[in-house]
Amino acid sequence: MDAGIDVAGVKRSFGAVHAVREVTFAAAPGRVTGLVGPNGSGKTTLMLMLASLLRPDEGRMRLGGVDPVSDPAGVRRLLGWMPDSLGAWPSLTAREVLVATAQLYDLTREAARTRADELLELVDLNALAASPARVLSRGQKQRLALARALVHDPRVLLLDEPASGLDPQARIALRVLLRRLAAEGRTILISSHVLSELEEVVDDAVFLVEGRTVGSDRIAAAATRVRVWRVRAAADTARPMDAVRLDIASALGRTGPEVGVDRRDVLVPFADEVAAVAGLRSLVSAGLPIVEFAPAVGDLEHAFLDLRADAAGAPDAASTPRSSPGAAPTPESAHPSPRSPSPSPGAPPRPAAPPGSRSDDGSSA
Ligand SMILES: Nc1ncnc2c1ncn2[C@@H]1O[C@H](COP(=O)(O)OP(=O)(O)OP(=O)(O)O)[C@@H](O)[C@H]1O
Ligand SMILES: [Mg+2]
Repeated sequence: MDAGIDVAGVKRSFGAVHAVREVTFAAAPGRVTGLVGPNGSGKTTLMLMLASLLRPDEGRMRLGGVDPVSDPAGVRRLLGWMPDSLGAWPSLTAREVLVATAQLYDLTREAARTRADELLELVDLNALAASPARVLSRGQKQRLALARALVHDPRVLLLDEPASGLDPQARIALRVLLRRLAAEGRTILISSHVLSELEEVVDDAVFLVEGRTVGSDRIAAAATRVRVWRVRAAADTARPMDAVRLDIASALGRTGPEVGVDRRDVLVPFADEVAAVAGLRSLVSAGLPIVEFAPAVGDLEHAFLDLRADAAGAPDAASTPRSSPGAAPTPESAHPSPRSPSPSPGAPPRPAAPPGSRSDDGSSA
């Protein structure tokens, strides 16, 4: 039986609002799949349908081979759901929330207590076990919500913005935990707005724009567009940034306006990684003290901004102002437009099985 998530042609409207217009994707077991999309693109609506808490108007969904529409109880048994806010039971303590949840999943009182203690340890809430849930901070509530989602050792996890409100240490802990849960063979679908963070944890990505999953061809096209790289030279207080910018432009054979500045970094567009490698070689050969050289934004963010530019109605992203050739790049223009002639090699995370296709092995329930 397929332990993954399989969604085809799912739609859901609220009156005149078409929250989910057409969603098709597959998320494979053993992998973390990111659900990426702007505010209001339908991520939470989709997750609620997968969690059997909302009925789709149309389409087919399977989680571990189980249909949330015809067998909601079956789906809830195999599913861990972390909503974007903790919700219920503010007067129970953190420990009582977990014990009560475990009992809802038919654990005996003794087993529920043992499980609650394991989970409090796992999400580092031991010290607050006896505090009422309502006094927990936002990040602590998030951790409790995650623990609650894990109570019955689910094979599939749906996490809606799990990292929001977490401090840097808790985010790292979450990332490590998600990697471990995936390595144990679970299927994890996670939405987040913090793309740089998602980038570090996801294997695959599903992009939602205005309620539709984006095809892999558009995502592949985004990956091949020119992108901006950050170049940093060793600090030299005697030299103003503008002089550094011109040194770099000159070593690269670029005109001044092609190269921008963001605080201590110089921003340079390169057509692809091959061009970036050649650029770095020129900078080093010219004797410039380069200490950092990397894409200004990660792969996910690059694709996301690119898709948004398309969705904004530009006939071609190449004609949007932020991508106009000749204008000095800014951090926000991290994907200026003209399409590069050659595809950029290796751009993980890869798009999750796109509309019309299946996960790697072609299997399904
Ligand atoms: N119960 C509802 N009644 C009416 N409209 C709704 C309802 N739930 C969601 N919507 C609308 O559906 C669209 C998608 O909402 P959804 O919450 O799924 O977006 P999202 O991608 O999760 O956004 P965010 O990133 O802000 O969390 C929005 O336009 C929203 O206003
Ligand atoms: Mg949401």
